[in-house]
Amino acid sequence: MRFSTSALAAALPALVAAQEPFQEYKAQFQSFFDKMSSYIPNPAAHDPVAAAEAKLGAMKLHTLTLDNWKDTLYEPVPADATTPVEWWVLVSGRNNTCRGWCDKVETAYNQTAANFALQPGSPHMGYLNCDDQPILCNLWASGASYLWVFEMLPPPAPIDVYRKRLNLSTTTTEDIMGLRNALQDPETAKQFNKMEGFFHPFDGTAAQYGIAVPIAYFVWVCNLVPSWLFMLVISMASRSLM
Ligand SMILES: *[C@@H]1O[C@H](CO)[C@@H](O)[C@H](O)[C@H]1NC(C)=O
Ligand SMILES: *[C@@H]1O[C@H](CO)[C@@H](O)[C@H](O)[C@H]1NC(C)=O
Ligand SMILES: *[C@@H]1O[C@H](CO)[C@@H](O)[C@H](O)[C@H]1NC(C)=O
Repeated sequence: MRFSTSALAAALPALVAAQEPFQEYKAQFQSFFDKMSSYIPNPAAHDPVAAAEAKLGAMKLHTLTLDNWKDTLYEPVPADATTPVEWWVLVSGRNNTCRGWCDKVETAYNQTAANFALQPGSPHMGYLNCDDQPILCNLWASGASYLWVFEMLPPPAPIDVYRKRLNLSTTTTEDIMGLRNALQDPETAKQFNKMEGFFHPFDGTAAQYGIAVPIAYFVWVCNLVPSWLFMLVISMASRSLM
């Protein structure tokens, strides 16, 4: 059984109530997760050496994690900026998320990043791997093969966020490079969906109330639980209520 993040909006009041203890126990959760990591998938894998190589290398590609994504996106934004600083982020994955289908898109994106790095004024390029960072992918409610575009302004300005699904089997470097400035033209901008509402990563209600991250963890845990076990618990709970 897959849980969608939006289905959880209904469970909000309970989650709001659970938020305080969540903050308090987060460190304990983390050490629990670390201990259990041989049994369950790691919710936040990160290879700082590879990330530094990608960032400083020819691609200037920034590897996003649950802990660094906001700071990373805000980093190149001058405090007095009035025109947005554009970021692109490819949401991708390895075997868990993509079963190998993301390689073509990823290669095209990495090549785009290398080309952009030589062209002043290009978007800043980021990369999010859902195998390594499942919580962040839940937080954005994003599957793999999405290109996200962030129009960053200094806080507290609202942030415009767009996304577009890239075709896993056909996308080439030229296709991705061709999306540069696509948002400036109303005709080509139609390929992108503007993020709005509850799960907007910066300005959504979930983010503002600080419950987006707990929800993202909750969805992750639910997806780990086998569906038969989940049904069993539901049926036991509903029986004990009657
Ligand atoms: C990923 O899948 C491919 C093909 O199914 C397999 O050859 C490879 O060993 C897998 N890699 C990991 C890390 O599981
Ligand atoms: C793209 O670059 C990232 C960051 O260096 C790397 O982790 C990933 O394996 C690359 N993907 C491909 C298909 O080369
Ligand atoms: C990707 O492109 C192929 C070939 O044009 C097409 O058949 C397929 O439906 C596309 N997939 C998606 C998800 O749009």
